[in-house]
This record gives sequence, structure tokens and C-alpha cells, in this order.
Amino acid sequence: MIRVLFVCTGNICRSPMAEGVFRHLVKEAGLEESFHIDSAGTDSYHEGETPDHRGMKVALSRGVSLTGQTARGLHVTDYGSFDYIFAMDNGHFSEINARAPGGHSAKIEMFMGREVPDPWYGNEKDFELVYDLVLEGSAAILEQMRKEHQL
Ligand code: 4NP
Repeated sequence: MIRVLFVCTGNICRSPMAEGVFRHLVKEAGLEESFHIDSAGTDSYHEGETPDHRGMKVALSRGVSLTGQTARGLHVTDYGSFDYIFAMDNGHFSEINARAPGGHSAKIEMFMGREVPDPWYGNEKDFELVYDLVLEGSAAILEQMRKEHQL
């Protein structure tokens, strides 16, 4: 079982989209049994909330449902419970590393080779861009996982 966690700020826009899209790709590939997938936020302000309705709408228009997801903060136990923690932007990458307990086992990596911009103060166009980036990044991560774990 490969345990993958996606992390953004609030866990209501970017990382829920990454969780939903990555889960969708994994399912399409018939690899559901090989993965445990979750997402979290560096902040806990939105704990318990559903994903942002703008992101849910864009994802659904592309065939991906984010319903059933609930926001939560990043916990110190996540560093032992997950094999990979993917940061959606540079700020998250710094903070995830800064909060890491000594001797933890998780691999902390950037989600993709560029930052996924915060769409919180944006409009639906911004969520469309986030979706496109998330799809590109998720596909690349699935390829990475196939190589690293011979799937
Ligand atoms: P996310 O977006 O990190 O992609 O979930 C944000 C959501 C909420 C806030 C910032 C970013 N906020 O400041 O409340």
C-alpha cells in the first residue's frame, strides 16, 4: 500500500482537487488496491468543511466528484502515516519541512515542477487553471509511483 497525502493551505481548494483527480486516475488505472490517498491543510481554519463549491463545480464538469471530502489540518502523525507528502506550492513545502518531526519517514516533495496558485480570491477561471495543473501533476505522480513501485 502506497500512502499519498496532498497538502495546501486550507484543504478546501487545491489539495482536495489533487486528492479527487489522483484518486480518479488511480481508479482508471485499476490500481485502487495499491493506494491510500488523502489531503490536508497547513492551516486548520476550514476543518470539517466540504471542498470549495467553485472547485467542486469545475471538477464535476471534468467528470471528477469531490463530494465526501472533509477538510482537516496537517498532523504530526501524518509524517509517519504517509509515504509521500506533496506540497502544492513553495510555502507549503517550507512549512511541511519545518514542522516535520525528527527521524520521520515520509518523502516530502513538490506536487509538480511549478507552484499551483492559490485560487481562493479568484474566480472560476482560476479554478479551471488549478484543475489543469492538478491533472498534469497527478498524471506525472502516478507515472512516478509506477516507476518507483513497479506497478
Ligand atoms: P487552498 O486555498 O489552500 O487551496 O485550500 C485556500 C483556502 C482558504 C484560504 C487560503 C487558501 N484562506 O485563507 O482561508
